[in-house]
Amino acid sequence: MNAEKLSDRLNAVANYIPKGARLADIGSDHAYLPCYVVKKGAVPMAVAGEVANGPYQSALEQVQEENLTQQIIVRKGDGLEVIEPGEVDCITIAGMGGTLISSILEKGKSKLQGVSRLVLQPNVGSFAVRRWLIENGWELAAEEILKEDGKVYEILVAEKGEPLIPYQHINLENGILFGPFLLKEKTAVFKEKWNAEKNNWQRILLQLQEAAQNEDTVSKRQELERKIKMAEEALR
Ligand SMILES: C[S@@+](CC[C@H](N)C(=O)[O-])C[C@H]1O[C@@H](n2cnc3c(N)ncnc32)[C@H](O)[C@@H]1O
Repeated sequence: MNAEKLSDRLNAVANYIPKGARLADIGSDHAYLPCYVVKKGAVPMAVAGEVANGPYQSALEQVQEENLTQQIIVRKGDGLEVIEPGEVDCITIAGMGGTLISSILEKGKSKLQGVSRLVLQPNVGSFAVRRWLIENGWELAAEEILKEDGKVYEILVAEKGEPLIPYQHINLENGILFGPFLLKEKTAVFKEKWNAEKNNWQRILLQLQEAAQNEDTVSKRQELERKIKMAEEALR
């Protein structure tokens, strides 16, 4: 992959960055996403943040190779510590687990002042991101699910607002797990993902049913049965 042609996943993330926004891409790795949107003229400037040395060096090299050092600042640091309050309008965090994304947002809360849009792409555990958004006054504006190279990805787009609005008329727990927009749309990829999850839970449940029973296995079985029921309902 390179900054000329993004993966479908990063391209989908890029589509949700508002035109003209000042962008921070956190966990930028090769900085492909900021390079792509700056080159396209979609955003005037970007900060590419990276905590790890190797990816930080890759980002620096990519930005230099593309002659974008005037528009893209590569900074080394943990999460949102690479930006100042009010410095950017939009933050993208892609390609990490949902728990890590939520902890980056939680630790960097003070830097979110002035940020009008978050575009988050958890590889797994999007429920943790949805929960953080609800608890911190961010309203989901859109969600997308896509499959690339055999892997399913979700994109969560949020703006400051009324976090529970997208969850009206649905069970909150279901909404947090499946995604309120994704649950409504029920695309083929959504069904494929949750069918696979359900089958996996059923397989684990069977193993637990065959194992020696104690308090721990009983509570794990109950939890799995609950989640399987939720998935069955979501797939209906
Ligand atoms: C799998 S890569 C994803 C790169 C790119 N965002 C993408 O979606 O293709 C995750 C990157 O996040 C970086 N990362 C992990 N935790 C971070 C943190 N707390 N702050 C900044 N970067 C972080 C890792 O070093 C790694 O380069």
